[in-house]
Amino acid sequence: MANNRVFIFDTTLRDGEQVPGCKLNTKEKLEIALELEDLGVDIIEAGFPISSPGDFESVQQIAAIIKYAQVCGLSRAVKKDIEVAGEALKHAKHPRIHTGIGTSDLHIKAKFNSTREEILERAIQCVKWARTYTDNVEFYAEDAGRTDNDYLARVIEAVIKAGASTVNIPDTTGYCLPHQYGDKIAYLINNVPNIDKAIISCHCHNDLGLATANSISGVLNGARQIECTINGLGERAGNTSLEEVVMILKQHHSLGYYTNIKTEQLNPMSHLVSDTMRMPVQANKAIVGSNAFSHSSGIHQDGFLKDALCYEIIKPEDVGAEGSKIVLTARSGRSALAHRFKKLGYDFTRNDIDTLYEQFVKIADSKKEVEDADLLIMAKQFKPESAVV
Ligand code: KIV
Ligand code: ZN
Repeated sequence: MANNRVFIFDTTLRDGEQVPGCKLNTKEKLEIALELEDLGVDIIEAGFPISSPGDFESVQQIAAIIKYAQVCGLSRAVKKDIEVAGEALKHAKHPRIHTGIGTSDLHIKAKFNSTREEILERAIQCVKWARTYTDNVEFYAEDAGRTDNDYLARVIEAVIKAGASTVNIPDTTGYCLPHQYGDKIAYLINNVPNIDKAIISCHCHNDLGLATANSISGVLNGARQIECTINGLGERAGNTSLEEVVMILKQHHSLGYYTNIKTEQLNPMSHLVSDTMRMPVQANKAIVGSNAFSHSSGIHQDGFLKDALCYEIIKPEDVGAEGSKIVLTARSGRSALAHRFKKLGYDFTRNDIDTLYEQFVKIADSKKEVEDADLLIMAKQFKPESAVV
């Protein structure tokens, strides 16, 4: 069972905070970090300490107050970055330094004007520097999604030998298809001789909307850490969304994987991040969108009212959502209308509902949503032969 534990590495405060307009001050970061710890995340990536004095201070303060989760600081494969990350994490109970470098040929040439051999040496070196501050070092092979598997395997073997205990395989540009990303993880499992000494981590971006699928594919092929953010925030189209991967593993429990996340806190956490970062959540977002438990078409409403399982695979209370909603629109049917009238205290007969329904669809055609106030007016104006209030 222990081997099926999937560690949740939250990077809302680092990759998520890189989103334009989402910048947080130290107080806001501290509040979110405490809630993330309470949610049950295993690792909090608190920031990129060398990037600014404000981020250094945030990482330092988060490191000082977080008790159970590991607190991680990002750095490039640059000595000064690693020193500053080490300094910011000095008071952390469980510090982790996340360091690394681009490994795709494109990054090697275009970003570093370098060679595979030089990059391999820099990768080894940065892990060694980081190990002088902590034995909890994670190495990232940036753009691993587009890195040649054979070279990637050489880099990963070398950084594990140099002391990395977690190896992050980012699909930095969100390019991979789920089977390709999964095959990449499987390739590393099968071709890196010392891979049993490290945990493989998925860090997937959402440029093609595949971040969640790719992370799950990574886990199915042997990864045991997922890097993700609340509401899927992150560079460009975002990162893997924490709430999605956690609920996929929970709902598909027959796969045998589990996380430490208290799922009933997912919606409150999503609201906190959305409000603090001033970044609204799209209504149809899985798990945490305002429509995630809303039913508006007649066919769905009828089935849902007979048995919620017909149209809901997750109980709203399991993810801390307000509850299921029947939304009355022009696509709604008689069952939903009768149900809502009943909630408002009007027990109409089937014939009455047929008559009221004609009036209802006319109102519904003129509005996006029919409100209780509209129904109350209809009920009061209706000749109340069979209405019992
Ligand atoms: O997307 C990426 O490759 C990253 C690394 C810095 C881990 O965010
Ligand atoms: Zn990233």
